[in-house]
Amino acid sequence: MTKTDPESHKSFGLVKSEKEGGLTDTFGRKHNYLRISLTERCNLRCTYCMPADGVQLSPKSHIMTYEEIYTIAKKFVDMGVTKIRLTGGEPLIRKDTSRIIEKLASLPIQLTLTTNGVIVDKFIDLFKKHQITTLNISLDSLDAQKNKTITRRSYFDKVYQNILLLIKEGIQVKINCVLIKGFNDAEIIDFINLSKNLPVHVRFIEFMPFDGNRWNLEKLVSLEQILSRVQSSFKKEDIIKLEDAPNDTTKSYQIQGYQGTFAIISSVSNPFCDSCNRIRLTANGQLKNCLFSSKESDILTPLRAGESITPIIQKAIQSKLKIRSGMDTLDKFKKTETHANNRSMITIGG
Ligand code: 5AD
Ligand code: SF4
Repeated sequence: MTKTDPESHKSFGLVKSEKEGGLTDTFGRKHNYLRISLTERCNLRCTYCMPADGVQLSPKSHIMTYEEIYTIAKKFVDMGVTKIRLTGGEPLIRKDTSRIIEKLASLPIQLTLTTNGVIVDKFIDLFKKHQITTLNISLDSLDAQKNKTITRRSYFDKVYQNILLLIKEGIQVKINCVLIKGFNDAEIIDFINLSKNLPVHVRFIEFMPFDGNRWNLEKLVSLEQILSRVQSSFKKEDIIKLEDAPNDTTKSYQIQGYQGTFAIISSVSNPFCDSCNRIRLTANGQLKNCLFSSKESDILTPLRAGESITPIIQKAIQSKLKIRSGMDTLDKFKKTETHANNRSMITIGG
């Protein structure tokens, strides 16, 4: 909170009690990381993220405006949020994304984005201006044809060139690679080798089930399987386990002498919910206390009605379950019908 903020006197009285309790759940997890989806739309059509025939989009009037996004974000910051990630769909295709970034950057937070990288080159100056120093970029294959199969669009070269450009401009790139057995798992070592001469951080993500994405356990490439591939390709002494930060979802590694690093996100085989600090806000103003929760809390309607959203946020946090919204075993998680009530990833935002 800066002294020049006209609302600072208002929030000052509130900040103390809200900051201390508002975003801590019944398991003692402090939620200081808010992920805001700016749009349900995307310029790609990734198969693991949305069904082939697309998703039903919310009417435009149900999508949060620039002002509403800021008001909600500020409320969360007053309650203790210190990091905000903008997601989508593809966040950069929203017409007022630059304005949203400018405004959110005025909050005392670490601001970052997850993007598919297709038009990221147009935003580099803006990112630099607002100290956005790290970006997550989705890239699931290093083969242009395979990339086209998974994204149903032909932008591989553009995205690859943009990754090189970002690195050249001093922005740290984390590559999100969702592994699907029989499709891109043969590229695990190629991705790691990308980190030999490039300072990229490659993150292998276990394929997760969402509505309409044809998930099944046979398509999963697990943490264990990824590590076993790594161990059969590199000498044991060259595989360095790196330290992970307390709320990290990743298990990070580096190959001796390589510039970059790699990591595994094992939401399916090894959930990391104990240290979860994340809460999500969808583009149509619904809070999701867990990626896998089919229950949502509407904060946009009360906000528009001029009501306080604080109790709704607190209730959403208090009702968060311990592990994956109740799917605490792999058996429960395997039941695809339990995921049909959840949204497609494109409307959650990753
Ligand atoms: N499983 C795992 N990760 C997914 N993502 C999207 N859908 C899935 C899925 N089914 C990830 C992608 C993307 C981010 C927004 O969400 O890696 O980078
Ligand atoms: Fe957090 Fe839910 Fe993800 Fe677990 S599954 S880490 S509780 S969002």
